[in-house]
Amino acid sequence: MIADRRRAPIDDTVSELTRAELDGQRLGDAEILEFMVAVLLGGLETTTHLIATSALFLAARPELWARLRREPATIPAFVEEMLRFDGPSQSLPRFTTCDVPLAGVTIPANSLVLALVGSAGRDERRFADPDRFDLARGVSGGVNFGHGVHFCLGAALARMEAQIAVGALARRFVRLEPLPGPIAYNRTLTVRGPVAAPLRLFPA
Ligand code: HEM
Repeated sequence: MIADRRRAPIDDTVSELTRAELDGQRLGDAEILEFMVAVLLGGLETTTHLIATSALFLAARPELWARLRREPATIPAFVEEMLRFDGPSQSLPRFTTCDVPLAGVTIPANSLVLALVGSAGRDERRFADPDRFDLARGVSGGVNFGHGVHFCLGAALARMEAQIAVGALARRFVRLEPLPGPIAYNRTLTVRGPVAAPLRLFPA
C-alpha cells in the first residue's frame, strides 16, 4: 500500500505520510509502517475496551443507564468519568534521561519507570472520594490519554467514538443485563479491558 500511495496518492493517511517531510527528509517505508501499526494498536484496542468497560459498568447500574437514556447530554461527562474511573490505559513505561528527584527519592538516570495512570485517576489528592463514580464531577479523564509530547493523537476521536457508541446503545436498548459468569480481563500492564462483554440487550 505504501508503494501504491507513493506512486498515486489519494485522500488518506498513508498518502499524507508519504508526503510528510521533517527537516527536508521524507519518512521511510519502515517509519510509515511503524506509525500505522501504532495507530492500529493504539487506536483499536483502547477504544474497544473503553466501550466494552462502559457497557458492562452500565449493565450493573440500571439507574445510571436510565439517566443516560433520559438525559443523553450527560453522555460526554459519563465518558470522561469512565476514563478516570476505569480507563483502558493503566500504565505508561518511560526511561529517565536524568536523575529525577520525586517524593523524597531519586530515580537514577536510565531507569525504566512505569507511571500508573490508572492509579492517577484515583488520586485522592486530586479527586474527592475517588472511588465513587460521579457524573457531576466535571473533570477531564484526560490523564488516561497520557501527558506531554506523546499525548494521545486520537484522544478527540476516541472520545467521539465512545460517546457515539454509548449514545447509540442508549437510544436502542432500554436495558442491558449482564449474563451470568465471571468477566475475563486481558492480562496486561498497559491497556486493560474485558476480552468479551457478555450482555443481553433489551430493545426499546
Ligand atoms: C480510549 C481510547 C484511547 C486511550 C485510552 C489512549 C491512550 C493513549 C496514551 C496513554 C498514549 C500515550 C502513550 C505514551 O505516552 O507512551 C497514547 C498515544 C497515542 N495514541 Fe492513543 N489512546 C486511545 C485512542 C486512540 C485512537 C482512537 C488513536 C488513533 C486512531 C490513538 C492513537 C495514538 C497515537 C498515534 C499515539 C502516539 C502519540 C505520540 O507518541 O506522539 N489513540 N494513547
